[in-house]
Amino acid sequence: MATDYGMQVVAPFSPLIIKATAPVSVVVGLNARVDQILSGQDERRSRDWSQHLAGNLTTEIRMTDIIRDLPDLTDFLYDVARTYTYRCENALLNYGNYSETEELKDKKLEIQIKEGWVNDMRAGDFNPVHYHQGCIYSCVLFLKIPEDYEAEFQADKHRQNSVGCLQFIDSRTAVGTRNLFMVKPVVGEFYLWPSWMLHCVYPFRGVGIRRSMSINMALA
Ligand SMILES: [Fe+2]
Repeated sequence: MATDYGMQVVAPFSPLIIKATAPVSVVVGLNARVDQILSGQDERRSRDWSQHLAGNLTTEIRMTDIIRDLPDLTDFLYDVARTYTYRCENALLNYGNYSETEELKDKKLEIQIKEGWVNDMRAGDFNPVHYHQGCIYSCVLFLKIPEDYEAEFQADKHRQNSVGCLQFIDSRTAVGTRNLFMVKPVVGEFYLWPSWMLHCVYPFRGVGIRRSMSINMALA
């Protein structure tokens, strides 16, 4: 008979990333509002947020007040951030045993939206390696990709396709884990991660806009 010696992999350490899909109405509504902002010089100028951000991008527009006023979006953000928190907490408390998630259901947890902005990238734009300060969580929602993006991505014959991708970086290596994690942008897809985690966005060459929204959140 095999002896298992009570062996158990314990996984008490972060970082974890959660992925979700935003409601279509949220994506459509945000794109319409951003297009409206960009069509008027005054609002475009007053919302310009590029001086506060690391990106080498065509357009960075502050959206914090707009995000807070969109119930469909805030409900989605709060749901995902709460779920992430509970699951991370369970992973830490129970060494990855998620069966006790229910225990935390009644716990009060307030998610705060600290800052949010939209990035429009055109050919050649990029976002150098950075992390987000003054918050606990950061997240991204992909809103638009260039029409010919998929063809460009598929034509990238490098060892790992990176065209227009978001990449997370964690310098530690271990058996069974990665220290680089590449995310291909897909409209409607959403990722949330601990704000200290390094990440960057690689350029693309095709015509069109790659639009994403970033939000910094905190817990109270
Ligand atoms: Fe970022």
